Amino acid sequence: MRKRLVAYGRLKPHHIAQLQQDFELDHFIQLESLEDPAFLTALANANGLINSSLKIPVALLDKAPKLEAIATISVGYDNYPVDALTQRNILLCNTPDVLTETTADTGFALIMATARRVLELADYIKRGEWQASIGEAQFGTDVHGKTLGMIGLGRIGAAIARRGALGFGMKVLYSNAAPKPHLETELGAEYREMDALLGEADFVCVTVPLTPQTKHLIGRREFALMKPSTIFVNIARGKVVDEPALIAALEKGEIQAAGLDVFEQEPLSPESPLPHMANVVALPHIGSATHETRDAMTQRAIDNICLALQGERPISLVNEAVWSQRQGTSSQTG
Ligand code: DGY
Repeated sequence: MRKRLVAYGRLKPHHIAQLQQDFELDHFIQLESLEDPAFLTALANANGLINSSLKIPVALLDKAPKLEAIATISVGYDNYPVDALTQRNILLCNTPDVLTETTADTGFALIMATARRVLELADYIKRGEWQASIGEAQFGTDVHGKTLGMIGLGRIGAAIARRGALGFGMKVLYSNAAPKPHLETELGAEYREMDALLGEADFVCVTVPLTPQTKHLIGRREFALMKPSTIFVNIARGKVVDEPALIAALEKGEIQAAGLDVFEQEPLSPESPLPHMANVVALPHIGSATHETRDAMTQRAIDNICLALQGERPISLVNEAVWSQRQGTSSQTG
């Protein structure tokens, strides 16, 4: 019997057709509520879930007793209760690698746009205010040759650091759970304790995943450690930063500017002052949002779910323990 798959989020017709070849597919583009009866019925029978942005609480897993695997169309997996999935023997697969360079491009675009005040000055022209040569009041800050402080130096962090070091002659500092000797060799990156990095870097760029340990990693104390000339960039997750503390630091001139792709609440509340501040470049979580990369991410998620539901090891697995346990069980029974 063909396995049943629930898909959540917008998918292109060729991806839907691909999934329909292998599975009985129930596709939901958007839900008003997790209590949607058609969704709950589909979930009750689902062997697999492919999901782009739905937050999955533990209680929802109780309603999916046949679930064997979830493939998220993202590298981040903070929308999932990983421990509960592991306890229930459900594989969780994500999409690293295929979005690294695109997300690093977005991170670097934020560095450039904030330093050179690109949006603010483009608006200045739109408003018809460019009537004489610009003066110092409109000058920006150099990026090349400055010090880039990376909070987190995983795949995306390393790709941003590479752009900075090799493309812009920047000195790279990093703070990370584990030292990265190969990047120290490749980029001349230097490890710093986070507090020291915050005081030394001209650009502070956050790329750590959101975990209970990194929630509000950057708050009032950390902004106070930065220089008044610091440009702060968050390309990770909004909740890694205490947003009221960020707003206060920008208002008080504790830091110079911020480039933000992510926010504590997404979509950003219309009440938020952030997109209206002249020294902020705010983007609607577009890190990986190019045609090519979103297509590659969806394809990776499809490949992951197909492999997982065929009993094969998915390409990118978050909870390795489930796979090891399944292998152990099958070698004992086989
Ligand atoms: C991810 O994959 O986690 C990104 O944030 C999506 O853009």
